[in-house]
Amino acid sequence: MRTHYCGHLNASHIGQEVEIVGWAHRRRDHGGVIFIDLRDREGLVQVVYDPDLPEVFATAEQVRNEFVLRVRGLVRARPEGTVNPELPSGEIEILGRGLEVLNRAEPPPFQLDEHERVSEEVRLRYRYIDLRRPEMLNKIRLRSAVTRSLRHFLDGHGFLDIETPMLTKATPEGARDYLVPSRTHPGHFYALPQSPQLFKQLLMMSGMDRYYQVVRCFRDEDLRADRQPEFTQLDIETSFMNEEELMEMMEAMIRELVRDVLGEALPDPFPRMSYEEAMRRFGSDRPDLRCPLELVDVGDLMSGVEFKVFSGPARDPNGRVAALRLPNGCELSRKEIDDYTKFVGIYGARGLAYIKVNELAGGREGLQSPILKFLPDEVVDAIMRRTGARDGDLVFFGADKASVVNEALGALRVRLGEDRGLMAPGWHPLWVVDFPMFEWDEKSGRWNSLHHPFTSPKEEQLERLESDPASCLSRAYDMVLNGTELGGGSVRIHRVEVQQRVFKLLGIGEEEAQEKFGFLLDALKYGCPPHAGLAFGLDRLVMLLTGAASIREVMAFPKTQTAACPLTNAPSEANPAQLRELSIRVRRPQTEE
Ligand code: AMO
Ligand code: AMP
Repeated sequence: MRTHYCGHLNASHIGQEVEIVGWAHRRRDHGGVIFIDLRDREGLVQVVYDPDLPEVFATAEQVRNEFVLRVRGLVRARPEGTVNPELPSGEIEILGRGLEVLNRAEPPPFQLDEHERVSEEVRLRYRYIDLRRPEMLNKIRLRSAVTRSLRHFLDGHGFLDIETPMLTKATPEGARDYLVPSRTHPGHFYALPQSPQLFKQLLMMSGMDRYYQVVRCFRDEDLRADRQPEFTQLDIETSFMNEEELMEMMEAMIRELVRDVLGEALPDPFPRMSYEEAMRRFGSDRPDLRCPLELVDVGDLMSGVEFKVFSGPARDPNGRVAALRLPNGCELSRKEIDDYTKFVGIYGARGLAYIKVNELAGGREGLQSPILKFLPDEVVDAIMRRTGARDGDLVFFGADKASVVNEALGALRVRLGEDRGLMAPGWHPLWVVDFPMFEWDEKSGRWNSLHHPFTSPKEEQLERLESDPASCLSRAYDMVLNGTELGGGSVRIHRVEVQQRVFKLLGIGEEEAQEKFGFLLDALKYGCPPHAGLAFGLDRLVMLLTGAASIREVMAFPKTQTAACPLTNAPSEANPAQLRELSIRVRRPQTEE
């Protein structure tokens, strides 16, 4: 139907007769001349119709925004003064000689360049129109370039692309499962995979050696800007590679990716940081290294003070008292400090104490703080020295359970970095390593895996797995980029007795282990190689590379925060016949009765 894409036309085509197709992006009437900007996937070109050809001109008069058109015409240079340097086709225009309306369009629910005026809900309801916007199209194209580059790397390194089942059994990645009822097994359900974790391990036991898959994963969890109920992983598993070898290969892949799609260089090698150090200095296991601010422990200084808010957590083995120095923070107004106090409240902090350092040499007189009266001179001096405070700085404090302080000050650190323009430009990747094997879950009163139950403990710590689980480190690793966890994985347990010990520690009894993971325990007995792998969140990766604010912006058809699809109206009710076939009777929530 066409000789060229609209967006490909330029001065080199001047004098040629061309045929193009696309959407009417804009139509303007200029006193007897009609201009139509014709748009296709590759860009825009301006078409001009004058009344010399009355029939064609009459058709052009009927064109409205988003009509689908077929245009024949002559490429010519734009008259002097009308060149548009912003447009790749801006030096030329098409003198229209033929025009066919392939399809009419109703006025769109929003104009493409006015998408900001409508809610995201409306954009999602009319996603096919939203995706016509060049910004959206570019993100989807970049996403395609990302998978192309990743596949190219993996294909070149001997990985096999293998598919794994979608109708399967629960895979424990910590979220709720999406269940699918079985018609042929009444009362039984498949689970959609939270990840292909167990299948990829089985593939290693099959001798596939190196596996990858660009694969959809399903997790019924609370949604956020970087979480969707279905999302895509680049899932990877290898045999006979240790963590060093795998991390080296994976960061090479990501370096190549960023070079391919953005032409930018990432550090070689990526820095490594232990989980312990990341939590201590940044309050987070995915530290944003663009921000120079750091947490400093001051618990030892506070254990004796009379201010219980500080001395309590300082004496509690699960507590933490930490300081965060903000250079030139004296500039903060009362209102700004109140806003930050509210902000840390989101993370459970019950307050946000601070000291403004007006003039260090002035001693107590030079400081300004609601908590100064609780702190003796020597404590104040020690805080000033330890945080490296200088005139004009402000020091924030968090005191609570360590988890609350870490989350609150960890988030505040990044927020301050952004608000105060402290973020370094560019890409700051790192590996976080030496994760604990387990974390204690207060609510259920038992140990949980920090990564997942198939992650191997460090060999030298195997002997104290049962006697001191809290101190055991795992062979897991996370790749973090600018404060986002891009991916994570581990060396796996490949010996059945170790797997059984870990299940036991997690409170998974023998019977339950057999019921849920019997097939894995069996497979481990029939010649399982040492193996290791990881999975990247593809949507998050593309979100970062495109600078998008949420992963919804880089998915063609995402869901809303309540896991609904405004376009198709999913989820929806099933009809009674379907339910009968599935042996399902729906019990409605009380409120709807
Ligand atoms: P994990 O659960 O860490 O590991 O997931 C790997 C990566 O997937 C991305 N991710 C998500 N992205 C969008 N929406 C979500 N709801 C979501 N949940 C996770 C993150 C994360 O780093 N089987 C293991 C990997 C392994 O051990 O090999 C796993 O799934 O970027
Ligand atoms: P109060 O004694 O509650 O008025 O608190 C005095 C100061 O300590 C205020 O600036 C509070 O914001 C701050 N504060 C209260 N609880 C905490 C906490 N858990 N961590 C840090 N600062 C706190």
